[in-house]
Amino acid sequence: MTSGCACQAAEEKDIPYAQLDEVIARYKGEAAVIITILQDVQELLGYIPKQSIAYLAEKLHVSPAKIYGIVTFYAQFRLAPIGKYNLMVCEGTACHVNGAKALTRAISEELNIAGGETTGDGLFTMERVACVGCCSLAPVVVVDGEAHANMTPARVRQLIGQLREKEQHSQGVQAAKEVQ
Ligand code: FES
Repeated sequence: MTSGCACQAAEEKDIPYAQLDEVIARYKGEAAVIITILQDVQELLGYIPKQSIAYLAEKLHVSPAKIYGIVTFYAQFRLAPIGKYNLMVCEGTACHVNGAKALTRAISEELNIAGGETTGDGLFTMERVACVGCCSLAPVVVVDGEAHANMTPARVRQLIGQLREKEQHSQGVQAAKEVQ
């Protein structure tokens, strides 16, 4: 299930417009920079909030539909925030023939999300991506920039369990700090 509703609305209220202005100013006078600006905005915010589309359109003197069209056309852009842990399942040829589909299915079952969705607690996102460049390790799942090699459904479930444990541990540490 996606986490796009209430929390997204809350986050959209906090759009740092001054920082968006800085991004736009960085490319002032350059033609055809919309994609670059959107890349920078996504780097800044983690995704392209819908409210920022209208704002950017006004500042760049283009229609919101044009920006929305770019964001939805290119797979690199996201319209919703991603979870703390982004499970990127490689679906390139080598991974596909070595069982990537079974990994996607295992993640879906374990987290109750489909590709491109985020769990309700905002912890996990699953993304289905093209070749990540380490085909000899196929099938691969990348989390936080680390490629997990030769994955199986059991190993991917184990990985999710480890990430959940890590999260519980860091929440415990945080709670202990607040008590002190
Ligand atoms: S196909 Fe998955 S790493 Fe290349």
